[in-house]
Amino acid sequence: MTVLAFDVYATLINTYGMVDLLQRYIGNERAMPFATLWRDKQLEYSFRRSMMGDYEPFYTCTSDALGYCIEAFGVQLTRDQQFSLIKRYQDLPPYRDVIPALESLSGRSDIRILALTNGPLEDIERLFANDAIDQYFEDIVSCDEIRCYKPDPAVYRHFLERAGAEADDCWLVSSNAFDCIGAGHAGFHTVWVKRYDAQLYDPWGKRPDATIQSLAELEAQF
Ligand code: 2OP
Repeated sequence: MTVLAFDVYATLINTYGMVDLLQRYIGNERAMPFATLWRDKQLEYSFRRSMMGDYEPFYTCTSDALGYCIEAFGVQLTRDQQFSLIKRYQDLPPYRDVIPALESLSGRSDIRILALTNGPLEDIERLFANDAIDQYFEDIVSCDEIRCYKPDPAVYRHFLERAGAEADDCWLVSSNAFDCIGAGHAGFHTVWVKRYDAQLYDPWGKRPDATIQSLAELEAQF
């Protein structure tokens, strides 16, 4: 049996799904760089909190990172605008290839489908329910259950425990290179979803087992 561990943010859920709001608030030119720094800082804050043993739920990393970006870009955002951005983050849309890929994978009796994410369970349940993709998942495993973040090896071990699976049967599917590298280090197989041409895989001495451009190519890997 093949166990798929889907990363959520940037793999299933589009972390640029708030760019239209940013365009309205700070203009077209700054919207994408702002969204990119916001995501980078959010992840940096999760790494730092994990290393410091100072866990706070992922939305704290998201809102603290927003505060950083507002200062870094020197922009004025009203409280309502900040609230709308955070709210949008909680309702980000899935990428267009997600539902067809999950639909076809769920027809395979030799494949189990789970999620493994930094996001707290209630946030991910809401995101998945918005677009009815919850129906495809056997389970959602959240870092929140063990209060540390990817790529701490404890996260991937926790997944194995929750899934009742061996690492050699598990494939992490992620567009985040740091996540693939972390899962590979924990003995998982990895599929890197290179969604944008500009995405680079860190030179870490080990490549993912497979690289795909879209989830439409995923089922053919198994
Ligand atoms: C996730 O765990 C890493 O943000 C990514 O969903």
